[in-house]
Amino acid sequence: MNKDIKESFHKTKIAGSIAAGALDEVTKIVKPGITTNEIDKLCYEYINDHGAYSAPLLYRGFPKSCCTSVNHVVCHGIPSNKVLKDGDILNVDVTALKDGWHGDTSRMFEIGNVSIKAKKLIETTYKSMMKAIKILKEDIYLGDIGSTIQKYVEANGCSVVQDFCGHGIGQSFHLEPNILHYGKKGTGEKIKAGMIFTIEPMINLGKYETKVLSDGWTAVTRDKTLSAQFEHTVGITKDGYEIFTESKILN
Ligand code: MF3
Ligand code: CO
Ligand code: CO
Repeated sequence: MNKDIKESFHKTKIAGSIAAGALDEVTKIVKPGITTNEIDKLCYEYINDHGAYSAPLLYRGFPKSCCTSVNHVVCHGIPSNKVLKDGDILNVDVTALKDGWHGDTSRMFEIGNVSIKAKKLIETTYKSMMKAIKILKEDIYLGDIGSTIQKYVEANGCSVVQDFCGHGIGQSFHLEPNILHYGKKGTGEKIKAGMIFTIEPMINLGKYETKVLSDGWTAVTRDKTLSAQFEHTVGITKDGYEIFTESKILN
C-alpha cells in the first residue's frame, strides 16, 4: 500500500473510531423518555472531547451535530425535544472530522420493546450492509454493491430507498462516487484499492418512495411505513477491505 493511502486509511480510522465511539455512548443512554436533543448533546460532547468536530453541524445549514431518524423517518431527522417512546426504532448518524479526515457511521437503536416486524427490518438492513461489505475488493463493480443489497432486501420483502446513497468520503464529507444501494451486477465503475467510501442502505418495510418535509431535511417514507439504516465507512484494498467505523462494544 502506498504511503498516501496508508495515511488516509490511518486518519479515517481515527475519525471513524470517534464516530463509532459516540454511537457506543448512545447505547448507554437510549431508553423511553429521553429526547433526541439529549442524544445530540451526547454526540456533540463526545466528539469534541476527542478533539474532533461534528461534521453535520452547520453542514449546508444543518442545525445539529447528528441525525436522529425515528420510525418512518428515512434519514436526516433533526434532533429536537421529541421524546422517544417504547416501541420506537431510531437511527443515529454521526460524522467526526478529525485532523482533516471524516468518519461517518450510523446504527439502529430499539427503544424499549419493539415489534417483531421492526426487529426483522433492522436485521435485514444490517445484514444487507454487511453482505455488501464482504464482497468488497479491488476491481469489483459499484453495481455489485447495489445488487447484493437489493437482492437480499427484496428477498426479505422490504424495499431499497433510491433517493439517497452512500458516498466517497475523505478530506471532504461527501465525495464521488455515489454508492447506490440498488443496481445490477457488473455495471458501473470498477472500484480501486485506496478508495474510501460509505455504504449506508436505507430500507423500508413498505414501498421505496420518500419525500422531504418542509424543514428541508427530514426524509420520510411516502407510505409512512418504518425505515431502517446502518452505515459504515470502508477502505478498499487489493484483496479486501477495512471497516473504519467498527463498534468497540458490539460484535
Ligand atoms: N451523515 C449523513 C450521511 O451519511 C449526512 C448527514 S448531512 C446532515 O451522509 F447535514 F444532515 F447532517
Ligand atoms: Co454517509
Ligand atoms: Co452518515
